[in-house]
Amino acid sequence: MKYYFAPVQGHTDAAYRHFHARHYGVGSDVVYTTPFIRLEKGALRKKDFKDAMSELNGVANVLPQIIFKNGSELDALVGILKDNGATHIDINMGCPFPLQTSRGRGAATVADPECREAVARTVADNPDITFSLKMRLGMEEEEFMPLLETLNTIRLDHLAVHPRTARDQYTGELHPDAFRMILEHSANPIVYNGDILTPADAAEVARRYPAISGIMIGRGALGRPSIFNEIISGEEWPEERRRREMLAFHRELFAHYGATLVGGDHQVLSKILPFWEYAEAEIGRKAWKAIRKASNISKFQTALALIGK
Ligand SMILES: Cc1cc2nc3c(=O)[nH]c(=O)nc-3n(C[C@H](O)[C@H](O)[C@H](O)COP(=O)(O)O)c2cc1C
Repeated sequence: MKYYFAPVQGHTDAAYRHFHARHYGVGSDVVYTTPFIRLEKGALRKKDFKDAMSELNGVANVLPQIIFKNGSELDALVGILKDNGATHIDINMGCPFPLQTSRGRGAATVADPECREAVARTVADNPDITFSLKMRLGMEEEEFMPLLETLNTIRLDHLAVHPRTARDQYTGELHPDAFRMILEHSANPIVYNGDILTPADAAEVARRYPAISGIMIGRGALGRPSIFNEIISGEEWPEERRRREMLAFHRELFAHYGATLVGGDHQVLSKILPFWEYAEAEIGRKAWKAIRKASNISKFQTALALIGK
């Protein structure tokens, strides 16, 4: 079984990946897909590029992800990453954000014949790159079958499937039958992604779908950053240890941003507060709410002290 830290825009940036891989020591066991890199007015967004190429990427096993709306965007992005030394590239065909789908990117590519042909062509034209792909089931409804047939004609390292449509966003019902159909019909290894919050959830997914090649976790790993250690070792960590390690990990992140961001406390705070967004179950409602409300560093520190209380 392989393990993947799902890309979460605004959360799993280069520093987060670096300190997570280093602190939890899972750098070689977990692949960290970057949040999507995209073109803006025909050029690469500087912020995305800096993140994907950051020297902080040294510790973690990083897989850069691109998002596209047609063949020319796809080829341009692959070309740029290749010129910068990428050997593995992940293609996003699942983002449900209206800002992307309304422009024909992300989940909007699933049912687009031009996009699926572009993927097949680009993968065939770049045999020196190992490609993987991350997809949803479609926009309003399940519409993945023609895409799956096209993907079966090419070789992917893995196909990560989040079994929801764009309409479902992140909380609608999962579609287990569609996932099973993809698993049965895919010629490429399938990675399961969606709603894994605990090691028990991961074990249940592995039991239910023994043919999967991997498990990808996003929000569950942000909320419980020790989850990969716990799954890989087969042993749940006691609450006290999980919280202690989580605080130590977040202290490292805090120190890093304090030393590198130039905008002062406010900027540091706006960077680090979102890291706690999915941690309510792990740290308790009281601390979680206080962190959300913290308007300065001192209130943030006071809020952290409530963890476990
Ligand atoms: C705020 C946010 C940002 C996300 N950004 C990306 C992204 O850049 N690329 C991508 O493929 N998926 C992105 N996702 C989707 C996650 O990678 C993942 O597929 C989804 O959250 C379901 O997995 P989970 O239940 O384990 O979180 C994002 C999700 C959220 C909530």
